[in-house]
Amino acid sequence: MDKLVVTGGNKLKGRVVISGSKNSALPILAATLLTPEQCIIHNVPDLSDIRFMLAILRFLGAEVTFENSTVTVKAEKIQSETPYDLVRKMRASICVLGPLLARSGEAIISMPGGCVIGDRPIDIHLRGLEILGAQVTTEGGNVLARASKLRGTDVYLGTKFGSTVLGTDNVMMAATLAEGVTNIESAACEPEVKDLAEFLNKMGAKIRGHGTRRIEIEGVKSLHGVEHTVIPDRIEAGTYMIASLITKGEVTVENMEPAHLNNFIERMKSCGAVFRTGPNWITSTVPRELSSLDVVTETFPGFPTDMQAQVCALMSVTPGISVITEKIFPNRYMHLPELKRMGAKIDLEGATAIITGVPGLSAAPVMASDLRASAALVLAGLVAKGKTEVNRVYHIDRGYERIDSKLRALGAEIERVK
Ligand code: EPZ
Repeated sequence: MDKLVVTGGNKLKGRVVISGSKNSALPILAATLLTPEQCIIHNVPDLSDIRFMLAILRFLGAEVTFENSTVTVKAEKIQSETPYDLVRKMRASICVLGPLLARSGEAIISMPGGCVIGDRPIDIHLRGLEILGAQVTTEGGNVLARASKLRGTDVYLGTKFGSTVLGTDNVMMAATLAEGVTNIESAACEPEVKDLAEFLNKMGAKIRGHGTRRIEIEGVKSLHGVEHTVIPDRIEAGTYMIASLITKGEVTVENMEPAHLNNFIERMKSCGAVFRTGPNWITSTVPRELSSLDVVTETFPGFPTDMQAQVCALMSVTPGISVITEKIFPNRYMHLPELKRMGAKIDLEGATAIITGVPGLSAAPVMASDLRASAALVLAGLVAKGKTEVNRVYHIDRGYERIDSKLRALGAEIERVK
């Protein structure tokens, strides 16, 4: 099991190129199941989650290649049962459900297990597909969905936490081949959902309103092969922006879309960060000590839950009292006990973390638990006194392409130890 060893104290400077978005590439790869023709997808990050998805597509019968960030998929003949041992490892594999059902009239997929950031229900996914006419049953930990014909209609996809990203993706993909028009109310507006809709429209789908709470999909008979470039990963970009702020350095993230991080940027400005912004780059600096911050995570365009752990690390070493409220995954605080081992002063009241900034953190061996919590621990290690060992680094490899070499190129002292 690899670990990352980070020696704190260096200011990060320089430029880092942001990779393609994991959370856009995963549903787009699933969408290739909707056509027997070849799809070519560029700017795909080389991550373990991506390789899991490619293995699932191959298991289903698709021909798949992946080199130099370009994936080709040709799902000419596919079967409809997904491999349990692969699906259970990655929640996002649930997004093959909609395409499989629409393409072959049935789909068998194991219920995604929970994970450390909390229970990961799929009740809204299944309800949405049933409303489109699917018969959905669950047995032996598997979901069985069948539909001789899907029929377009109105589908409300709100959860008590707001909208669902992959739930919107699943229903939208299924609706592309349904008979008639589907209106999704309370749809997710994340840039990754919009990117999927653009991909589907290039395949011949008729989708409007993507990026807003109401998406209209007019069903078509079939979809064709397509070439597409995935949007940049806004969460990777935000993570390196925080690396610049926490080390009081001067890092420019390149090949990213500033508009995908508006809320995050505004909140960082409100506590003293100064940004220089271009069409596809941002330089992050801290001219003077940052001040504390109140943040509530929300669905897009609100503050992204996927940036919550990283901001907790930053606020741990920012003077004053910061209040972070997690409204999407109330249990997404596995990083807090680890940050406290490094000297952070944090109290958790329900889904609210109250962080009292300390002058500095001290290195400690810490345990990564989920993708973004691991990133937060690496960020803390960049400023902690001494060598911080972040164990179970496979979590971080799920969502950050070559994080050690990218950080080393910015001046961080970090090495990967077998
Ligand atoms: C996507 O997960 C992302 N993953 C997550 O990123 C991200 O944190 C999340 O959206 C929220 O933005 C991918 O895109 C692959 P949800 P998803 O359905 O779609 C509840 C990362 O770090 N809910 O939007 O699975 C759910 O429990 C990952 O890259 C239901 O109640 O999340 C949660 O509280 C982590 N019933 C809330 O909705 C359902 O049927 C939002 O979840 C579905 C969801």
